[in-house]
Amino acid sequence: MFALSKLRAMVAMLLSASALAPIFLCETTSATDGGWRGLTSGLRSLLHFEVPDSARISLPYPPKVLVKPTGPDADNFSRPHHPHDLDPEAALRRRCALVKGTWCGEFLRQVRLPARPVPRGSKECPNACSGWGNCNYDTGICECPAGHGGDDCSKPVKRPCAHGHRNISNPNATEPVSSVGPDGQDIGPTTVKGWTASRCFGFCDDDVAACYCGEGRYRRIPAPPGSPPWTPPVQHGRPLADGCQPATDATGARTFAGGAGTSWDDIYGPQGFCNAPEKAARQAGREGEGSPDECGCFQEVAFPCDGSVPMETTCMNQCSGHGECHFGFCRCHKFWYGSDCSRKKADSGPLEPALHEGERPWLRPVVAIPPAAQEVPAISTRPRPLIYVYDVPPEYTSRMLQYRNFGDTCLWRRWYNGNHTGMNSYTYGIETLLHEMMLQSEHRTFDPEEADFFHVPMYITCYFWPIMGWSDGPWWHAPNGLRVMHGANMISELHGWLQTKLPYWNRRGGRDHIWLMAHDEGACWMPKAVYDTSIVLTHWGRLDPDHTSNTAYLQDNYTSKPEAAFDAWRGVDFGDRIKGHPCYDPNKDLVIPAFKNPNQYPRSPLLGAPPLERDVLLFFRGDVGAGRLPHYSRGIRQKLFHLANKHDWYGRFKIAIGTGDSLKGDYSEQLARSKFCLVAPGDGWSPRAEDAILHGCIPVVVMDGVQAVFESILDWDSFSIRIREDDAALEALPQLLSAVSPERLAHMQRHLSRVWHRFAYTQTPFIKAAVEHTIKGYQHKLEKAREEVLRDAVFQPVSQYPHADDAFGTIMQWLYHRIPHTRGA
Ligand SMILES: *[C@@H]1O[C@H](CO)[C@@H](O)[C@H](O)[C@H]1NC(C)=O
Ligand SMILES: *[C@@H]1O[C@H](CO)[C@@H](O)[C@H](O)[C@H]1NC(C)=O
Ligand SMILES: *[C@@H]1O[C@H](CO)[C@@H](O)[C@H](O)[C@H]1NC(C)=O
Ligand SMILES: *[C@@H]1O[C@H](CO)[C@@H](O)[C@H](O)[C@H]1NC(C)=O
Ligand SMILES: *[C@@H]1O[C@H](CO)[C@@H](O)[C@H](O)[C@H]1NC(C)=O
Repeated sequence: MFALSKLRAMVAMLLSASALAPIFLCETTSATDGGWRGLTSGLRSLLHFEVPDSARISLPYPPKVLVKPTGPDADNFSRPHHPHDLDPEAALRRRCALVKGTWCGEFLRQVRLPARPVPRGSKECPNACSGWGNCNYDTGICECPAGHGGDDCSKPVKRPCAHGHRNISNPNATEPVSSVGPDGQDIGPTTVKGWTASRCFGFCDDDVAACYCGEGRYRRIPAPPGSPPWTPPVQHGRPLADGCQPATDATGARTFAGGAGTSWDDIYGPQGFCNAPEKAARQAGREGEGSPDECGCFQEVAFPCDGSVPMETTCMNQCSGHGECHFGFCRCHKFWYGSDCSRKKADSGPLEPALHEGERPWLRPVVAIPPAAQEVPAISTRPRPLIYVYDVPPEYTSRMLQYRNFGDTCLWRRWYNGNHTGMNSYTYGIETLLHEMMLQSEHRTFDPEEADFFHVPMYITCYFWPIMGWSDGPWWHAPNGLRVMHGANMISELHGWLQTKLPYWNRRGGRDHIWLMAHDEGACWMPKAVYDTSIVLTHWGRLDPDHTSNTAYLQDNYTSKPEAAFDAWRGVDFGDRIKGHPCYDPNKDLVIPAFKNPNQYPRSPLLGAPPLERDVLLFFRGDVGAGRLPHYSRGIRQKLFHLANKHDWYGRFKIAIGTGDSLKGDYSEQLARSKFCLVAPGDGWSPRAEDAILHGCIPVVVMDGVQAVFESILDWDSFSIRIREDDAALEALPQLLSAVSPERLAHMQRHLSRVWHRFAYTQTPFIKAAVEHTIKGYQHKLEKAREEVLRDAVFQPVSQYPHADDAFGTIMQWLYHRIPHTRGA
């Protein structure tokens, strides 16, 4: 039985996931809608099998470290990855090892452009954006924070704490359902049954749909009515998440929140969460329906979680040190503008020093000012491609971050107590990471006229979870049950904005526009009008043109038909608007790596960890489809799991396939002691190739008609094995892999070690520092214990990481080669 409590516990684990938590958990995020009620009842009927006890596997412990007697070869540990004593052509060949095509060499041989002073705009905005928004002096367009909209940010855009998903009988409604009374307190939570009235037993900040204690010592006290824009609340108050909503009211009567775990006294009693100082700690270990395990600092606020201790929150490039970050929205300092406040208005004086250079040193680890934004660029030349990053309306990007009800979601990094920054292992972290890397890049240009490419940022997976469905907005002309329809409409709407507000889409028909589709099924459901010409970066390389959705997560079924009432937006049926293109076209798109932070591969010999004997033949740990619809993973993981279990593949062949529960241990270490690692789909893409490659494990790819990460541009055949999806091939897997000779395996491993760095994103300063720290740490350790130096020389550890050729660098190198294809008719 897949009970609500179990799902909750799973989500709680996910939220508290430290960097080293097992990665398999991440795949469950797509199965967590804002309100899990409907989902779990669905799951109950979908249960197909349970993982039997007999499936438990215990790998021998400790793993065997390959040791080598002290000797001159010990020095191999400090051998640089890219020796400097090679001639330039040899160095170039080395850097371009195993690439398919000419893109790498073309990029490296390019003649760089001279640097240029930063252009500065001076177009004024209507009504100075009412004191709420930032004026974009290039376009004269106001960029408004949550709660505000319209041309001058004077129009209220409310997001109340009502769960009421867009009512199917009223598809044309423009205002979300609200149950906020005049005093800001939500009304009716005890009287109205179901989830449609309110999900807040307290004060609702209906700019962002955040619920706070409505009474007690830690209650929310808003700024007095009529206060000027951006006046902070008198008291921030402690937030109440779904799990903190009491199951009984003050009179003891049951409330909509159901569950048995949280009583009125737990929240509002003298020792309750809204009154007792110590209650702010995350109340771990209290499982069960309605338990207050989500009470606490689930927002990005410092202990005691009531906003009384000021703390940074996460914004792209931390507003370049020229703005204040409000949970994702940069409120730029006077005359500064752009989504990351990286520009300064013309004739407004010299560029003053940024906050990270002076009064806020804690910002330094994460901020990087791109050369294009510097008055005197640090380097005198610029590499192409030149990329212009759109300042799209905040509703497609930063506002999603403001709407987050969990601090760990959507982001690849976040802030903690004392302004410490940490990395998240968020499955879809690429969405904010790619945006941030683009903003910080030496490839960035502020002059759209000279741009080779245009990046269109959009936080669509963040909208899907946890934003969508938590409140009755925002929504994009679709019923609640169909996330992908909202997503497709959102893209169409943003496309319309690009076509009408600025000239650059129309100039080349969008061929030079870059979109990221990080969703499980990538760009399968992207509107054709955008997909057909644009460059799409995706994790899902499915090639067939006549595809249907294969998700086991029903809200993502893009082949399903929505209610007619919702289907007429823009005059073309949703189904027809997204049809007629493959999910991925290797001629114009690129399958890029999912984000894995260095804390997710700490035991990799490629980062310098002492190499382990690879005593596991084939490894897979994760969701094997228990409790899922049968077409999850196209049935591949289920089949392999059953075969392995039934025929004792572990005992006979050292093939370890299991779930997090049945295959306990350190995930990174397990990958580092495996010869082969399985790469099979989940609900679409799954970051298994990344896990394998970053650990020096040879990928065994099972997904017909789907290209793996960078498969169109790297020689995958030299460092991987591909197996057909059919039963005979899967059954023969043990024989097939056992037949690979040690020499052939070493050969593939050697190839892998020449390209593995292209699968990690390391250029942004925070990650770069973490990677170097890990490498140095191991070097230091090994210095002290020379007898522990490796015998197996296949993986020569790095002493310097080739950051320029990381995943982002690889994307840039490929894009350079694409420039000519974006021109012409
Ligand atoms: C949905 O809207 C219809 C028409 O406006 C209304 O009669 C009905 O009560 C609404 N249903 C819910 C659950 O709010
Ligand atoms: C919604 O608006 C469309 C277009 O104006 C209209 O055809 C349709 O009847 C409306 N639906 C309802 C339920 O009012
Ligand atoms: C953390 O950052 C906030 C916002 O800049 C600042 O007000 C606060 O003093 C900082 N706290 C510490 C401990 O540095
Ligand atoms: C998606 O919906 C269609 C239409 O309802 C249905 O035929 C199909 O089986 C569904 N696909 C999946 C993967 O559930
Ligand atoms: C160490 O490096 C030297 C010189 O490159 C090489 O000849 C030797 O084989 C290496 N030793 C091992 C164990 O790889």
